[in-house]
Amino acid sequence: MFSRYLFVEASLAVGAVMAAGSKSCPADSPLSCQNSTTVADTCCFNAPGGQILMTQFWDTHPVTGPEDSWTMHGLWPDNCDGSFESNCDKNRAYKNITQILQGSARTPSRVLEGLPGRRRDLLEHEFGKHGTCISTLEPTCYADYQPTQEVGDYFTRAVGLFKDLPTHEWLAAAGIVPSTSATYTLEAVQAALSDKHGKPVVVNCKSGELNELWYQYNVQGSLQDGKFTPADPVGKGSTCPKTGIKYLPKGGGSGGSPAPTTMTTSTGSAPTSTTATAGPAPTGGAALSGKGRISVSTSGSSEGGFLISSGTWYRQNGATPATYTATPGSDGATFTLSTSKGKCAVQETDSSLTCGSGVSAASAFGYDGAHLTYDGKDTFYADKMPEGNDQGVVYATEKAVSFQASWTAA
Ligand SMILES: *[C@@H]1O[C@H](CO)[C@@H](O)[C@H](O)[C@H]1NC(C)=O
Ligand SMILES: *[C@@H]1O[C@H](CO)[C@@H](O)[C@H](O)[C@H]1NC(C)=O
Repeated sequence: MFSRYLFVEASLAVGAVMAAGSKSCPADSPLSCQNSTTVADTCCFNAPGGQILMTQFWDTHPVTGPEDSWTMHGLWPDNCDGSFESNCDKNRAYKNITQILQGSARTPSRVLEGLPGRRRDLLEHEFGKHGTCISTLEPTCYADYQPTQEVGDYFTRAVGLFKDLPTHEWLAAAGIVPSTSATYTLEAVQAALSDKHGKPVVVNCKSGELNELWYQYNVQGSLQDGKFTPADPVGKGSTCPKTGIKYLPKGGGSGGSPAPTTMTTSTGSAPTSTTATAGPAPTGGAALSGKGRISVSTSGSSEGGFLISSGTWYRQNGATPATYTATPGSDGATFTLSTSKGKCAVQETDSSLTCGSGVSAASAFGYDGAHLTYDGKDTFYADKMPEGNDQGVVYATEKAVSFQASWTAA
């Protein structure tokens, strides 16, 4: 039901938005990320975020959206090298996205309608975080800018792209269907999707289960009414295992119940359950609550280490991991973290994680059933692997070393 609303409304909205006040762009505008010289007019050229990702979720626990459709996550402007900016304009981090969309004749208000609360919050977060970093949506790009006008343009484009990417159908056509028993190879999933999209698609898993897709594009002209061309992925590759990928049904049957979440500790000992004993069970999407420790696993070393109280990464044997306190947010899906040093936040300037008394606004983190997430991504980074007494600064944006962070209730 939701998907039908979505599609009808989206096609109306996409047609109508062309009349909006964004300036018209030359037909020969260069393709974003493919320019060979500097392009001055960033109202007609997406820069620096010229690699646009349409991201989709497949959420089985808890179930989100209809059983036969993936759900829209967001539209992300990545830089041409896979790094990305976020939260680019505090003044446009609107808290009333739902009202804005409902009040606008041009925008797909029904996009929000079939979405459970948690996804609605997510869409609001998506604009502030990612939409404000899209150069062609800057207020100065509009001839007669009306405040919040760009929000409708962002979601209209997002829904328009989403509607053209019927992942569930494409996978089914290749015999890849939700099942509690079947498993699939990464190659088969990628082949089914790249055949249709025209370029490789980044396929992400959590706990070996298909969970998120990133379809990537370059754009000729503006995001509002330019031409989207499928592009080769840049940045992080697929996180799924090569074989044995599960694609669980949403709801119904035993497939809807959460699989036990376990992780293999980096020291090679027996798998340890990461299910917190305090607060609600941290299955996909639910907020962590109470006290715990954050351990690090990285393919670069068997000694992953852990995070200490300032939010940095430490790998020295025998040292004691800090106790973190997770406090759920009102959305029930995100939570904030603090330590004995103070609140924890990902800094806007350089995306580094800091916990301390100087942190006034704590960041919202998520938990995908196996790992901590920030901005929907379960990977954190450091410049290098910390050695000895080094404290590695942890970043949310791509650096030389990547790792995942797990929670163990304390
Ligand atoms: C493409 O254009 C952007 C924006 O003007 C610029 O920063 C970038 O350096 C250009 N790329 C090349 C290869 O000139
Ligand atoms: C939403 O909030 C902005 C300010 O952040 C305001 O300008 C706008 O009028 C509001 N829109 C609606 C529909 O409430």
